[in-house]
Parts: sequence; structure tokens; C-alpha cells
Amino acid sequence: MPSRRPFSRPVSDQRRDPAAEWIAVEDYLDALFVPPDPVLDAARRASAAAGLPDIAVTPSQGQFLQLLARLVGARRILEVGTLGGYSTVWLARALPDDGRLITLDVNATHLEVARENIARAGLTALVEPRLGPALETLPQLTGPFDFIFIDADKANSAAYFSWCLRLSRPGTLIVVDNVIRDGQVADAGTTDPDVLGIRRLNEAVAAEPRVSAVTLQTVGSKGYDGFLLVRVNA
Ligand code: SAH
Ligand code: DHB
Ligand code: MG
Repeated sequence: MPSRRPFSRPVSDQRRDPAAEWIAVEDYLDALFVPPDPVLDAARRASAAAGLPDIAVTPSQGQFLQLLARLVGARRILEVGTLGGYSTVWLARALPDDGRLITLDVNATHLEVARENIARAGLTALVEPRLGPALETLPQLTGPFDFIFIDADKANSAAYFSWCLRLSRPGTLIVVDNVIRDGQVADAGTTDPDVLGIRRLNEAVAAEPRVSAVTLQTVGSKGYDGFLLVRVNA
């Protein structure tokens, strides 16, 4: 797996640099809790070799998503934003043998890399990638899904949430990635379209009486960011 760890200073020095300390702790926790996995490492390597951006979830975040999918007993999973299929493999491994994961991406190159990574993981029979802008592919889906991961273009997050709600049932868990963005999400004066998209999403979730929601702030090798967790109640 290509190293995203530019730091090799003693921990005492790292404490002066919060980002370095987050990464040292992430490495420590990954070594303890994330089992070594040649298939997932190969997926990251193949994605990098194909020139995909290095923005997949981290190993610990993949483990977190998989744990959540298992907690809700997910048999049908929907993912919006495949990239090279790294998060897809983590999530599909939470499924029973007769489970299904549909993953949406607008980029044919990304989906091609993802198909190879999914095949290497032995998950081709469970995973159905669909090519196209999610606003066009979401209306073609039939629900309900038990677990939904939204991780595509952030500007459309509120629209994706609204579609995903229609594809849910009571008990469905919807998780949205990248909802903190270095804290920019709290800046009411932001003009960043991605951050504005997350703010619109938050307002839509807050105004939605059928859900309970919480955002978890996260730090680590992807900086300061977070996950929004939404449980559909009714
Ligand atoms: N979930 C992946 C990362 C996804 S990165 C992981 O953690 O491993 C975001 C992805 O969203 C990119 O692959 C990008 O092509 C895709 N995307 C961007 N705009 C989109 C759109 N309008 N519809 C569907 N996918 C889109
Ligand atoms: C970006 C997108 C992501 O989904 C992510 O997890 C990190 C960064 C981005 O577009 O910069
Ligand atoms: Mg993301």
C-alpha cells in the first residue's frame, strides 16, 4: 500500500504538530484493530497505479463502515460514489452470501478499477456497479436498502439524501462521508460549493421529522473531517 505517512519523527516531536499526532495514533490503532489484508492493500495500490485520487476512506474508516453495516444486519447496501471500490469491498464483506450491494459512480475509469478490485476480493456476485450521474441512476433503483453510504460529489449531497430516504425503510442507516471539511462546515459565510452542499444537507436532515441524526467528527490521515449518521425512524 503506498504510504501516506510523511512523518517519522519521535512521538514527543509529533505532539507539536496535531496532524502528525493524529496520524501516529491512527497507525497505532490500525496496527491493533485492522487485520492485515492483502486484498484491500492491493485495491489501494491498483487505484493509485490507475491514477485515481487518494481519497478513499482510511482502513479504520472502512472497518467502521463495515461494523455499522453488520450492526444493522444489512442484506441490501447502496453506495453513492465508488471510486476504486475500496469502501465497496469493506461494505460488501458485511453482507451475507445472498446479500447485494449496488454502487454508483459517474466515472467509467473509476468503475473499471473498482470492478477489478471487487473481483480480486471475490465479491463480483454480490456487487453491482452502475455507471452514470447518481441523480440519474438513483431514480432507477428499487428499495428498500438497509444501509446506505453517500460519498460522491458533495454539492449534490442534499439531493442524494432525499433520494436515499425514498429508498429506505424504518431502521435504515444512512452514512455520509466528509461532512466537516476541516471545520469549514461551521462557516456560515463559506462560498465553497462542497461545503455549501454539506450545509444544505445538514439543514435538510435537521428539518426531516422521520430521522434521528448525529455527526461524528474525525481526525487522522485524511485530516479533520467527519461522518453524518442518519437513522430512518418512520
Ligand atoms: N467511496 C469511495 C470514495 C468515493 S470518491 C471510497 O471511500 O473508497 C467520490 C466518487 O464520487 C468518485 O469516484 C467520483 O467519480 C464520484 N462522483 C462524483 N460525482 C458523481 C456523480 N454526479 N454521480 C455519481 N458519482 C459521482
Ligand atoms: C474528497 C472526496 C472524498 O470523498 C473524500 O473522502 C475526501 C476528499 C475530495 O473531493 O477532495
Ligand atoms: Mg469520502
